[in-house]
Formats: sequence, structure tokens, C-alpha cells
Amino acid sequence: MDNGATSFPKAPGVAEKVFDYLKNVGTNLNRSSHGSSYEAESVAYETRELLCSLFQYDKPENVVFTKNVTESLNVLIKGIFRSGDHILISSMEHNAVMRPLNGLRSKGIAYDKLACDREGVLDVNEIGKHILPNTKGIIMTHASNVCGTILDIESVGKLCRQNGLAFIVDTAQTAGLFDIEFLSMGIDALAFTGHKSLLGPQGIGGFVISDKLAREMETLMEGGTGSLSDIEVQPDLMPDKFESGTLNIPGIFGLNESLKYIIRETTEAIREKEMALTGVFIEALLNMDHIDLIGRKNIMNRTGIVSIDFRSADNGIMAQSLREAFGITTRSGLHCAPSAHQTLGTFPRGTLRFGLGHFMSEDDIHYAIDSVYRLRSIMDR
Ligand SMILES: Cc1ncc(COP(=O)(O)O)c(C=O)c1O
Repeated sequence: MDNGATSFPKAPGVAEKVFDYLKNVGTNLNRSSHGSSYEAESVAYETRELLCSLFQYDKPENVVFTKNVTESLNVLIKGIFRSGDHILISSMEHNAVMRPLNGLRSKGIAYDKLACDREGVLDVNEIGKHILPNTKGIIMTHASNVCGTILDIESVGKLCRQNGLAFIVDTAQTAGLFDIEFLSMGIDALAFTGHKSLLGPQGIGGFVISDKLAREMETLMEGGTGSLSDIEVQPDLMPDKFESGTLNIPGIFGLNESLKYIIRETTEAIREKEMALTGVFIEALLNMDHIDLIGRKNIMNRTGIVSIDFRSADNGIMAQSLREAFGITTRSGLHCAPSAHQTLGTFPRGTLRFGLGHFMSEDDIHYAIDSVYRLRSIMDR
């Protein structure tokens, strides 16, 4: 039950597709003229198209591959913002946003946090008064990796459009699970990671970007792209502008297969199943003493990330006991998001986090409920 960290198992066929690339294809992108290179290229291009289909965008060339959402956010944040700029973020951000932003403070780039409530909910009506003359953009996670609360990116996107701000969304916890519409939600850059709800391999992620931002952005890395080899400066061509060096092609093949699975199953059906299981799980947790459920107490506007706090025991020891006594893997601590814990009132103690996954069954959930119940009753003795 640690799918919030990374999903397991992966979508059917993912491992075989990675193997197929390594065993039967094995060529680079843009760099050779023999037959199988074209196959790698066509799978990579199809993967960009599948991502466009998932995120309701029609520009495959504006899908840039990186190794994960952290790299995507670094490329975006460091490429878009300049000295003197001001940025707004939510108080639920992961260190993938906090650390690059704090690193940029010495370069004259400032940020302010928009406070969310004790359930991680952002009041969009409060944002306007925090916009300064030099505010250039808003960066926001779509869902908290600590408590699963969904942030209203659609309303924030609208506000960004009205105020001419760039809107950058971290979809680490929602891509593959929620419908994210790049254009209609007013998103300018959408960072994703392949290994969570996209059900693909680790080491492949990327971002989807608008033409305008792609044009304005500076590159974080330059190098060989296999294109325009006669010039010694970085090409402006998309996606090459942001894709220097050999990509994780086995990862792209694996992601290609998992995206096909998600699109076939539909995000709606995937979400419905996950939320039904989440409902059963949180209902049972709410009825247990010794435990606080952190964040939202029902399945409205949340994901299958469920954090609890054992009131009178160490969450880390409880996580270890769950693994050793019942074979259930979870994650305890601060989950790389101290600001979210400060918002939720769980800093520095942290929580024990369950991440429900697509391939779990109702029996798995009942087993988990029973295990937490038994663990908790040990505390009564
Ligand atoms: C909200 C959020 N942002 C960013 C990340 C970083 O993801 P990755 O390690 O794939 O870059 C995570 C994963 O833990 C996350 O949950």
C-alpha cells in the first residue's frame, strides 16, 4: 500500500514492452538511419500523442521527456523565472517545488505561500490579494501527496488567465487518475511522472508546455539532440530544445504501454474503482479510536492517499509493525512535504501514509483494515 511513492504492480504489458525494446529494438532517437531507429522514433512519437490524448492537448511536439516530475519542475522553474520575479505556490507543495524555489532566492526570485486549511483545501477567492505587480506565475500540486486533497486547479487556471500569470501544475499524484485538461483548465506547463498513477516504469516523466512558454523559457541543459547537428547552439525546435542527450527509451516504451492501458480502461473507471476502495478504507479508519485520519474525511475531492496519525504511538514504529506483522508496506514520516505537514498540523511528527493502488481488491482493503485494527488493539494492552 505504498502506491503514493510508486505504483506496483505496473500496467499489464509494461515489463514486456521494456524488454522488447532492449532485446529487439535497441536504437537511439533521431540519431541513426537504420530501420529499427524508426521504430523507436515512432513509439516515442506515439507516446507523446498518447500523453496529448490523456491531457487533452494537440501538440505532441510540446511533450518533453525528462526522467521524472522533479526534473520537469526544475527545468520549468529555472527556465521560466528571472531575477525580480515573484511566484505564488500553495502551502501543500512537495520538496520538488520547495527546494528549487528556495535555491532561487539568492538569485532574486521570491515566492509566497497561499495558506490551505487543516484539510489541505485552498480557498481560491483568497489568491487575488496575494498577486503583486511582479508576480509572474503560480505553481501548484494538483493533489497533496500527504493527505490526498485535490486542489482546484481549474479555478486557479482561470484566475491565472485573467491576470496574465503562467500556471504550472505538478500532476505527480493525479495523472492517470483524474481528468486533466491542459487547454480548458488554463494550464501553461504540466509536469508528470511515469511511475505513479501512470503505471509505467521509474525514470521516465516529462512536461507538456504551451507554445508561448516554450518560446520564452531558457534551457537548463544544452547538448546533442540528433537534430541540426551543423550548429553549435541549442536548437529552438520542440521538443529538442529541452531534450538534450539520450533519453530513457526503455522507459518511453514502458510508458507507451501503460498509457494505452489507462486510455483503454478510462481514467473515469480507474478513479471510480480507487475511490470506492478509498471510501471503504476511510470509513473504517474513522471508526477506530487511537487514530486520527488526516485531511478530508470523505471521498469528495481526494485521491487514494490516506494518511493517519497514531495518537499515542510512533507512526514509524507502527509502519514497521504493519510490514513485519502483516506484510503491508506503507510510508511514514514527512513524505518530502514539510510545508504540507505544517498546514495539516502534523509537523514534525509526520504521518503513516497508505497509497491505494489500481490493482488492489476489496479483500486487500479489508485485510488492511483488519491489520490496522489489530495493531491498534495491541496498544490497548
Ligand atoms: C506531489 C509530488 N510532487 C513531486 C513528486 C516527485 O516525484 P518524482 O520522484 O517522480 O520526481 C512526488 C513524489 O513523491 C509528489 O508526490
